[in-house]
Amino acid sequence: MDDEDRYADAARGWATGAARVYGPLATQLVAAAPHALADRWVLDVGAGTGLASSALRAAGARPVAVDRSPAMLAWDAAARPPGVAGALEALPLRDGAVDDAVAAFVLNHVDDPTAALAELARVVRPGGAVLATVAAATSGHRAVRDRIDVVVADAGFSPPGWYAHLTTVQSPQLGEVSAMTAAARAAGLDVLDVTEHAADVGVERAEDLVDYRLGQAHVASWLAGLGADEQAALRRAAVDAVTPVMEPYRPPVVTLVARTPGKAA
Ligand SMILES: C[S@@+](CC[C@H](N)C(=O)[O-])C[C@H]1O[C@@H](n2cnc3c(N)ncnc32)[C@H](O)[C@@H]1O
Repeated sequence: MDDEDRYADAARGWATGAARVYGPLATQLVAAAPHALADRWVLDVGAGTGLASSALRAAGARPVAVDRSPAMLAWDAAARPPGVAGALEALPLRDGAVDDAVAAFVLNHVDDPTAALAELARVVRPGGAVLATVAAATSGHRAVRDRIDVVVADAGFSPPGWYAHLTTVQSPQLGEVSAMTAAARAAGLDVLDVTEHAADVGVERAEDLVDYRLGQAHVASWLAGLGADEQAALRRAAVDAVTPVMEPYRPPVVTLVARTPGKAA
């Protein structure tokens, strides 16, 4: 694991833009739980700005957030459940500390996702749920979304080094049903369901797609270096590029629903 905080400048953009896509995805992941989560302590790892924590709270659960980025955890911290900075690779929790765990779009950030799943299995008590999502391998290029990336590149953006490692090495590892299933089994989990589907996230306007894309972490530091007028012009140009071809955005997602072995809690 490198020590770079990829999300150091990303909290505002994530919470106000990327959340248009990741909020519905978090709600859908929590809804996939194999048992009711009410009153259960549920780890939200890679919690970011707290989208899955909110969905867990809405389901009556007691979320505990862990994220390696203090900046993401700091977003709206007073209104959020307890959170602690820590890495998925070595969670700051004892064995069996939580009833269940949710990992929304964080397993794609590690070099060894099987070890990360085993770490989740370690901290979830026997019979607890482990729920995870990653972007499907097929999600790399999306014709409509790619138009935004062209506008951004034309404005002088070039991706940070970690983004190439994420997209070419880390993220593809679990991006297929067979790979996610094999990794979860190798981590000692009982696999209940693994699916790949194009998720309906309700994003149908070009403005929402642009705000989602410009809210993602890889552009955050670069965007922060632009003035307010430049940012507004960039957003307008991206909306203009997308509007003629806009269609409902349905990101392909791989979802894992699993349990730790042992008697159901
Ligand atoms: C794609 S964002 C997802 C945030 C949130 N789960 C959501 O769905 O909106 C990935 C989050 O995982 C965190 N993260 C990345 N690598 C991590 C690691 N190795 N351990 C813990 N958190 C990590 C990032 O700081 C970021 O907040």
